[in-house]
Amino acid sequence: QNSDVSIRVYPEKGNQVISKHIYGHFAEHLGSCIYGGLWVGENSPIPNTKGYRTDVLEALKKLQIPNLRWPGGCFADEYHWMDGIGPREKRPKMVNNNWGGTVEDNSFGTHEFLNLCELLDCEPYISGNVGSGTVEELAKWVEYMTSDGDSPMANLRRQNGREKPWKVKYLGVGNESWGCGGDMLPEYYADLYRRYAVYCRNFDGNQLFKIGSGASDYDYNWTDVLMKKAGNKMNGLSLHYYTVKGWGKDQKGSATNFTDEDYYWTLGKSLEIEEVIQKHMSIMDKYDKDKKVGLMVDEWGTWFEVEPGTNPGFLYQQNTMRDAFVAALTLNTFNKYGDRIQMANIAQVVNVLQSMILTKDDKMTLTPTYHVFDMYRVHQDATYLPLDIISQTKEIRGRNVSLVNASASKKDGLTHITLANIDLTNSQNVNIDLSNTKISKVSGRILTSKDIHDHNTFENPNLVQPQTFNGAKIANGKLNVQLPAKSIVVLEIQ
Ligand code: AHR
Repeated sequence: QNSDVSIRVYPEKGNQVISKHIYGHFAEHLGSCIYGGLWVGENSPIPNTKGYRTDVLEALKKLQIPNLRWPGGCFADEYHWMDGIGPREKRPKMVNNNWGGTVEDNSFGTHEFLNLCELLDCEPYISGNVGSGTVEELAKWVEYMTSDGDSPMANLRRQNGREKPWKVKYLGVGNESWGCGGDMLPEYYADLYRRYAVYCRNFDGNQLFKIGSGASDYDYNWTDVLMKKAGNKMNGLSLHYYTVKGWGKDQKGSATNFTDEDYYWTLGKSLEIEEVIQKHMSIMDKYDKDKKVGLMVDEWGTWFEVEPGTNPGFLYQQNTMRDAFVAALTLNTFNKYGDRIQMANIAQVVNVLQSMILTKDDKMTLTPTYHVFDMYRVHQDATYLPLDIISQTKEIRGRNVSLVNASASKKDGLTHITLANIDLTNSQNVNIDLSNTKISKVSGRILTSKDIHDHNTFENPNLVQPQTFNGAKIANGKLNVQLPAKSIVVLEIQ
């Protein structure tokens, strides 16, 4: 079956840029994200570049990741950065209380992280310890990383082998301060934020972009209080939104074994992020009408039960075509709000939650979500082009959801449109009117699979991967696209 969809793109109304930082990532000391995922150490039999897994490094370079948030998450508010510098064999160990009670040997610390960001050519996003740390500790960390002077922390860094400071722009002042980051009330955290912000200084031309620890989901009061009391001291305020069925025991459901109803539920829940960000943004508008403070969705993605047989504290989950749709719909949504959303970080980059990459010993596989990020790279720093869609809808979680979801942008003379047909059985006959844009050529890539449960494994790593798409044709100056059921497409239009 084939139903008709009309899309009208308005290139003349394109007046805001989709920040590349919306395509950002997150790496926490959690499960095998850092150890085994990004870092194996120089002496590992696993092929590595200065201790970083070469396969993962190459895959992330290809993705052009714009930023990487570290060291947490909840871990950040128990992390003491001084334990992670100097000779590795002398670094003190700690227990990772948040994630499985494993012993953290601190062999991956500030130098290892910031050097990784340099190798990846991405901006580091440091998440500072407010929950169990001190103002002095965070202030000194900033000095250690960014001061070029004859200052105590800069000299300590030099002693540890790094002469020149790194460039560190993004600084998170705590994480989930309402929960694992200190269980604070918003009024208390707002005061604390202000105090930390004073002492986290700009050294030698490095300009910090300070990010307040924001709300989760539907906690609009947190955003209100923070904006009211400290909004004028912030460059950004974060927001966390997970696509999760429930936080109770066994409520999250399996990542790979789900019904059609679960599939649509998950997509509906992921789409609800739009309403949530709109509400947080309208509160921000109340206090900051010029949109100076960025909304930083620095944790988002699917959260399912861990893979059977794995440590529940490691949050290791598989990643199917369903996850690919969550990524596609969420990124299409973020693209719309470039006037307020300045960054987003999917959780997490390797082996944790909705990851880009899964590893096991020396094996690696790219997930369907990785492929979506790869296809959507074209939107990074491009001009957002508004569009309208008229399509059949499906009732999901009490709302009418369009079966086709899309986003368009323009950069370097090329227009790109990302399309997702969430319908599990029906293809769509999509007619796209690009207003006055002259179309001379169209090409595309498609991500789809026979079965929505399909995913890549170490034995079959390429089951789900993008293919060339030949279903778009130019007809009477417009585009006609035959969009197969359960498919994600990126079109390049010249
Ligand atoms: O991403 C996993 C955890 O989810 C993070 O550590 C925390 O910030 C959030 O609750």
